[in-house]
Amino acid sequence: MSRFEAAIFDLDGVLVDSAKAHFAAWRRLADELGIRFTERDNEALKGVDRMGSLRMILDLGGRGFDETEMVALATRKNGYYLEAVAHMSPADQLPGAEDLVRSAKAAGLRCAVASASRNAPLLLDRAGLAPLFDYVADAGAVARGKPAPDIFLACSDALDAPPAACLAFEDAAAGIDAIIAAGMFAVGIGDPLVLGRARVVYRETAAVDLAALLSA
Ligand code: BG6
Ligand code: MG
Repeated sequence: MSRFEAAIFDLDGVLVDSAKAHFAAWRRLADELGIRFTERDNEALKGVDRMGSLRMILDLGGRGFDETEMVALATRKNGYYLEAVAHMSPADQLPGAEDLVRSAKAAGLRCAVASASRNAPLLLDRAGLAPLFDYVADAGAVARGKPAPDIFLACSDALDAPPAACLAFEDAAAGIDAIIAAGMFAVGIGDPLVLGRARVVYRETAAVDLAALLSA
């Protein structure tokens, strides 16, 4: 029998193909502000919440804005992002995502989503994944964003599973650090060079070997 009782999933870049839309929306804003922002810079923003991401971009350009302007910039970026995901559908699930969650449920694991995105409920709904989850953490309700463990701990609390009994999946370095800080088993999805602190890294969601993880 597996020691795991729950599976906790990041959303963007693990279940849904939305990481590109976040990048494109930030790049559009950065272009408008005259800040050079590359795909490489974007790697550090993955998993980071909206205001934290904005601060990182403004730092890259050495730009400062007051709080009201910052909120307006973050709202503008979110508008670009919502435009980009307006036609999102189950076709935008990452390959293997729905199968992975269904297999975790079939193995008796309770399942939750731990996304830094305030748009997570909307995306889960559009991607047709919402009914699969026992719990979706509210990114707006946790005190500290990733790499702090708060959002993963909110999931283990809600699922009534101790952290050591949680398997958690992430495509972002900040997310892997959050999982480790929560005392959970970290599974990276993406580049092993970026996600090297995870216990196991798979190149893509479709490559996850759940049976092997459950016996880890
Ligand atoms: C994370 C993404 O899941 O959510 C980040 O990896 C994004 O790129 C963050 O900035 C916040 O998303 P949102 O939808 O609340 O702006
Ligand atoms: Mg992600």
